[in-house]
Amino acid sequence: LVDGQLKKWTGETSEVYSTISSTENYAPTLLGSIPTMGEAAAAEVVESAVAAYNNGQGLWPTMKVIDRIRCMENFVTQMKAARSEVVKYLMWEIGKSLPDSEKEFDRTVEYIYDTIEDYKELDRNNARFTKSQGVNAMVRRGPLGVVLCLGPYNYPLNETFSLLIPAIIMGNTVIFKPAKHGVLLISPLLEAFKSSFPKGVINIVYGRGREVASPIMKSGKVDILALIGNSKSAIALQDLHPNKNRLRLILGLEAKNPAIILPDADLDLAIQECIMGTLSFNGQRCTALKILYVHESIAAEFNRRFTDKVDALPFGNPWEKGVSLTPLPEKDKPDYIQELIDDAITKGAKVINAKGGERSDNYIFPAVLFPINKEMRVYHEEQFGPVIPIITFKDIQEPLNDMAESNYGQQVSLFGKDIKTIAPLIDTLVNLVCRVNLNSSCQRGPDVYPFTGRKDSAVGTLSIHDALRSFSIRTFVASKDN
Ligand code: G3H
Repeated sequence: LVDGQLKKWTGETSEVYSTISSTENYAPTLLGSIPTMGEAAAAEVVESAVAAYNNGQGLWPTMKVIDRIRCMENFVTQMKAARSEVVKYLMWEIGKSLPDSEKEFDRTVEYIYDTIEDYKELDRNNARFTKSQGVNAMVRRGPLGVVLCLGPYNYPLNETFSLLIPAIIMGNTVIFKPAKHGVLLISPLLEAFKSSFPKGVINIVYGRGREVASPIMKSGKVDILALIGNSKSAIALQDLHPNKNRLRLILGLEAKNPAIILPDADLDLAIQECIMGTLSFNGQRCTALKILYVHESIAAEFNRRFTDKVDALPFGNPWEKGVSLTPLPEKDKPDYIQELIDDAITKGAKVINAKGGERSDNYIFPAVLFPINKEMRVYHEEQFGPVIPIITFKDIQEPLNDMAESNYGQQVSLFGKDIKTIAPLIDTLVNLVCRVNLNSSCQRGPDVYPFTGRKDSAVGTLSIHDALRSFSIRTFVASKDN
């Protein structure tokens, strides 16, 4: 989609295979193909986005708020009609379970409506006259320019749209490259994008990052890099911009969220939340619990009950009823998880659940590793998959010190009952991460709450409210009293 047109692609294409194998001998299922675009397409979308931002009064960036909202409403109405098709792609492309795929779609629709409401509120509160020291000003919030938007494979619709929607509605123009996995699910929405927004406001390209995203950054025309994914790609893309001072960053990156289970924790609740926190969508969430700190006095019981529950989780295809674990979209992920397991075993850990590490096609059954120490890779690396490291502690200062030393700082889960122990801990924890979850696992939503992180975990803040501010700048018109 470029300059308001859905162009027919005649160049090279690459095939998109499902994460679900079609037969018992694991033959890959071909779902479709995507254009492999390069420099020429990059130049075209940059020109289109820049022109849509700069050309003419009353067009996108200067359009009346009410008209911009109408475009967005039109888009979401059309989007809703594509629900079943998008949900099907979520299951086949990334292996997300049916209820979770439906939830992802519905959450996105709700996110768009809530953003529209918040945008109306923002507009009401922003465009107002103020006066200070003889200077009258009308302060308002406006767009920044051209946004390059790249979303992740684990929420190819919802998280991508949590960047895309606020960027567009604030009056920016956007170049969007869908994630490598979860790429075809954008196809049922192309026509809706095309017919809802003026030409050039949203441009969509396909292909490998280094071939199509790199020249876009090198053009020097990108004002905001909005990316949810890994630090390596974010740094590589920033470095390509010829003037990094011009570039605003909105990044959602890695995390290694710990759970701390205190001696007086309600174990049933802690175990239930830790199962969900570590293994929802097979652990492929930046908000997943990625290391469990269990007080040494309860470790034996926690481990026994936790591993029983892990081993009871059903594995299957996303549409099967009650299925919890599903095939992994990244082909090399099971090998990577195996490497982490082998490394931990060499350095003294054991796989403590019976089914841990069992392999089938592109799946590896969750392995619970115990006891973990700092020499092990799984202690440091963001596994983003089904392996659960458990570490014991004697004194609460031990996990706190580890969190302070960590390169990450997104969230923590704290399980315990005694308010006298918990209350002072909260003050310390909120200065180490950005969200403290009491007796519950880590998560991003509800989307009204700020979603961000410290250190290497994020740059900028998302949420319905914060994203509108992240994708805009306050400007004002001033006049003096004469
Ligand atoms: O991958 C990170 C996502 O932001 C996780 O979102 O907590 O809603 O699953 P979630």
